[in-house]
Amino acid sequence: VRRIVVVGASLAGLRAAEELRGQGFDGELVVVGDEPHRPYDRPPLSKQVLAGTWDADHLPLAVAHEGGLDGLDVDWRLGTRATGLDLATRTITLADDDVGVELAFDGLVIATGASPRWLPGCRTDLAAVHTLRTLDDSLAIRAVLDTTPQRVVVVGGGFIGAEVAATCRSRGVDVTLVEMLPVPMGVAVGDEVGTLMADIHRDHGVDVRLGVGVERVDGSDRVERVRLTDGTVLSAALVVIGIGVVPNTAWLDGSGLTVDDGIVCDATGQATSGVFAAGDVARWPSRRYGRSLRIEHWDNAIAMGEHVAQRLLAGSGGSAGSGDDGDVYDPVPWFWSDQYDRKVQLAGVAAGADEMQVVEGSMDERRFVALYRQGDRLAAVLAMNRPRPVVTYRRQIQAGASWSDALATASG
Ligand code: FAD
Ligand code: NAI
Repeated sequence: VRRIVVVGASLAGLRAAEELRGQGFDGELVVVGDEPHRPYDRPPLSKQVLAGTWDADHLPLAVAHEGGLDGLDVDWRLGTRATGLDLATRTITLADDDVGVELAFDGLVIATGASPRWLPGCRTDLAAVHTLRTLDDSLAIRAVLDTTPQRVVVVGGGFIGAEVAATCRSRGVDVTLVEMLPVPMGVAVGDEVGTLMADIHRDHGVDVRLGVGVERVDGSDRVERVRLTDGTVLSAALVVIGIGVVPNTAWLDGSGLTVDDGIVCDATGQATSGVFAAGDVARWPSRRYGRSLRIEHWDNAIAMGEHVAQRLLAGSGGSAGSGDDGDVYDPVPWFWSDQYDRKVQLAGVAAGADEMQVVEGSMDERRFVALYRQGDRLAAVLAMNRPRPVVTYRRQIQAGASWSDALATASG
């Protein structure tokens, strides 16, 4: 392997590049990214950056490698979009400044992440209607918050909606949160904790509207009103749309890679010989959960970026692994979310769980640990403002602990 190309210059791509060097790869390493920025961290975009307490200079992703980012000896192609992949010639096509330029690779890591969905039917030319994914998005939303007397309508009660609503309230802005489903964040944390999250938002003064969608977003040049499907009309000086993301795979159309809500990989993270995917864009069969997963969280981007870098080097010229446990990517996913003075952490996969039990603290106190059962296994642990037990239960999930073992730990 002489030249490895990484497409996507963000968390998964950077961690893959860092791991390649860490494992001793001394060939040519090219990282292609369509944003103009060097890799930066996204979690603060809905939190500290939006709150106005951090600026862009807090965000660059650090690397442990000696010599920092420059020490990685990467040929950065920033502000450059990959537009095609030809597996027969093992080349990718680059657009923008490098119109039509082809770049050959021996190994490829695809880490192109995901892009926000736009609200169906919503005009794209109205000022102060935004999605939130990039630094530029966050600064644009903050600029509106800095200048306009505020009434914000947040569409979508998932991670973006919940965190943006909390941050806007911390700025003293009036917020209405509109979620199509009966419970916000329910898909990720289950209906009981989702219902609690709705209460927490209400207690902080958010007008939470559940089970209702948006019919239209109106205004002349700037947004002025949002009409809901139940006929309610909300005035709005800012609309933030957080209704989910779509994996960035359009550039792979016709390449022959299998795409099905993400790049379909084998259990090692390999999409086809010498081509791997990592982070938000990647889908793989999880042995632990017995189904295919695509995880849209920070920790997975790091772990999978590192994993596929190792597999690429180990399997160069052939298969990415023998199927041994070490070859297989089978993490216990983990995320956190900060909303007001509550920190929620979840390790494992709670979606599809059969049962949830609070085993420490209580939901009334809003400080608790809950376990999720799938079949006879411990599937996930969620902690609100009680971080320590997450480590213990995450280890148990890793080890395949039974539900009764987990409950015994809780009562012991
Ligand atoms: P991305 O970060 O999406 O990076 C992909 C990169 O590839 C982008 O720069 C994109 O522009 C580029 N790209 C796409 N297509 C092309 C192309 N064709 N050519 C070249 N470049 C391309 N997770 C948590 O666990 N906790 C949190 O608190 C948290 N907060 C978040 C807050 C916000 C506002 C957002 C947006 C996300 C948050 N996340 C959080 C999720 C976490 O940031 C993502 O899971 C992580 O960024 C995924 O990394 P990635 O490298 O896979 O993809
Ligand atoms: P999401 O998938 O978390 O939530 C989308 C929400 O929008 C769902 O609750 C859905 O029911 C709702 N929705 C869909 N269509 C709607 C409509 N027309 N009207 C009203 N509601 C509608 O996606 P979200 O919040 O956009 O987040 C995007 C990405 O950012 C995700 O990958 C997420 O994981 C990531 N993120 C993660 C954070 C964290 O881990 N703490 C924080 C912020 C973002």
